[in-house]
Amino acid sequence: MSADLWNSAAQVLDTNWSTDHMVPSRGLYPHQWSWDAAFIAVGLAYVNPTRAWRDLRSLFEAQWPDGRVPHIVFDPRTAEDDYFPGPGFWDVPAYGDRPARGSTGLVQPPLHALAAWEVYRRAAAHGVACAREAGDQLAWLYPRLVAQQEYLTGRRDAGGDGLVSIVHPWESGLDNSPSWDAALAAVPADLTLLERFRRRDIENADAAHRPTDADYARYVGLVVDYRDGGYSDVELAHRHAFVVECPSFNTILAAAELALAHIAAVVGADPAQHRQRAKRITRAISEHLFDPETRTFRSRDVRTRTLSPAPCVNGLVPLLLPDLPTGQVEAIMAEAGSPRFGLPAQTGLPVPSYDRTAPDFDPLRYWRGPVWININWLLRRGMLVHGYLDEAEDLRLAMIRLVHTSGHFEYYHPRTGAGIGAPTFSWTAALALDLLADRSVPAYARAA
Ligand code: GLC
Repeated sequence: MSADLWNSAAQVLDTNWSTDHMVPSRGLYPHQWSWDAAFIAVGLAYVNPTRAWRDLRSLFEAQWPDGRVPHIVFDPRTAEDDYFPGPGFWDVPAYGDRPARGSTGLVQPPLHALAAWEVYRRAAAHGVACAREAGDQLAWLYPRLVAQQEYLTGRRDAGGDGLVSIVHPWESGLDNSPSWDAALAAVPADLTLLERFRRRDIENADAAHRPTDADYARYVGLVVDYRDGGYSDVELAHRHAFVVECPSFNTILAAAELALAHIAAVVGADPAQHRQRAKRITRAISEHLFDPETRTFRSRDVRTRTLSPAPCVNGLVPLLLPDLPTGQVEAIMAEAGSPRFGLPAQTGLPVPSYDRTAPDFDPLRYWRGPVWININWLLRRGMLVHGYLDEAEDLRLAMIRLVHTSGHFEYYHPRTGAGIGAPTFSWTAALALDLLADRSVPAYARAA
């Protein structure tokens, strides 16, 4: 089984490579996506480290002067019509040596420091020469990764509590999660926007699996507002209709600081500042995004300062943080093992994206039920960080089993395990490689 899976995963990554970057999948996602590049680099490191570095570098070459790393970098060879919303819709001005309309103005979770550290670790295991070359890559990336963190912590702390706010559900990476429903309800759904701008996603995928028209109109409206405000982050909480602190986005932000501490040590910078920042972010997550009543982490609407009522998988991701208080670590493990989610020991499958017992749990619709490999990969690492070794191994095997049985799909049915969405999806393939190869405790989680 391992050899088959390894070969098919490598094959997917070969097929989806496009000159200097990886596409998430041909068809549905014909450009480069930010956090996809991070997950992908982790797996590419095993089969083609040169491409892993190239992909990360392509992404950071499109970094804005203010430090933001765009959530999509557009491939100029792809026609405007092949993806909506495309380059013309975002209408991003030229910056640095980049032409106009080269990217979006949103961000995604900053997983790249962690990915860069993983690619470096893999290279360093192959001897001094490889480590030296990979060290050069780290040295190029380090100041850019730091600028990315500074953009997020400096310009996006709309709530003033040391947490990053997202200004659009797409920034979370969990695009259509019920975690945004309460905050989105206050965003007008202007359906005439969909008459002016044609959805492309439902031409490439089954409409029953994708967001509803009302939600899609809200998504488009939020982009229009942010774009027309010049992608400025000034006074966000007052000006913008959607300003939300997501537990998994902020966890990845803190994990990035821990990875940067390791990277800093290699490139001759100061690791201590990164460790302190990670601690501060961890404390803010623990204080502001934990609901003591339900003992779960939730997203918080900055405009109303209320936690979302929806128990979603983003609430389990803080497990990744080594300094999370023990009581909250235990609460996450209890929630993951409860009927609301369920670990492989109970369900035979990885964890779903939403509460299985919720009346609106939807096994097909995007982030509203299905199983995603990337989030489970993060959860497994969290289990390793906190010493839940048996659970981590069960989850690793459940993910491998699922991808082997069903294929390298974008996501999976949470009851049957059938593949849904794009059939040859890059991060699923990349993480399958990592899951086959890596049985160790992640380095960023160990005391430096
Ligand atoms: C979807 C996912 C997002 C991902 C993108 C490209 O929009 O929700 O997380 O980055 O597809 O794969």
